[in-house]
Amino acid sequence: MKLPLNLVVYATPPAPVVLVSTIDEKKKKNVAPFAFFATCSHIPPMVCFGTRKETDTYKNIMKTKEFVVSIPSPDIVDKVWSCGKKVEDEFKHSGLTPIKPKKVKPYRIKECQTNLECVFRWKKKTGDHILIIGEVVEADVNKKVFSKEKWKLRTKLNPLYHVTRNHFILGRGKYTVLEV
Ligand SMILES: Cc1cc2nc3c(=O)[nH]c(=O)nc-3n(C[C@H](O)[C@H](O)[C@H](O)COP(=O)(O)O)c2cc1C
Repeated sequence: MKLPLNLVVYATPPAPVVLVSTIDEKKKKNVAPFAFFATCSHIPPMVCFGTRKETDTYKNIMKTKEFVVSIPSPDIVDKVWSCGKKVEDEFKHSGLTPIKPKKVKPYRIKECQTNLECVFRWKKKTGDHILIIGEVVEADVNKKVFSKEKWKLRTKLNPLYHVTRNHFILGRGKYTVLEV
């Protein structure tokens, strides 16, 4: 069945939702959800996400060259949704708690499983979005999901996926291929 090109995104698996925290040149805090997100390098660790150029997130990153990517879990889906609204203070409006970063200036988010402090490295216009690539310079994970076997960390994360508008996919499933 032929797929109209404006539906291509919906025929691909949903990407995990992340929260991107930034500050402006007057140190005003900002946080917003983004679903065009991926990791794109092991060493150094790098991440990328797509944003429209109208967002405060984009404008702040262009000015300060820093951002924090935080990974939410299903228990805070309502907070994630509410910080996607255009309000004066998204932290206050959503009830998310900003906590002090270590190496950059934008805040980490207390309620998130992972916090990645990033330095902006590169951008590229990709159709109606701009792809932002950042290098992770400091990272923190919630003790509850930490595992000494490094890859198991990923199986313990409980991500949130965005379908469209106010629809999300929650939860996780695991499967190990036995014949390797
Ligand atoms: C779950 C979810 C995922 C979103 N994903 C994106 C995205 O990938 N790219 C984007 O430009 N906007 C995305 N948005 C919309 C932005 O979060 C929204 O425009 C927000 O107001 C931008 O905030 P800012 O102007 O404070 O940066 C998403 C919204 C939600 C609720």
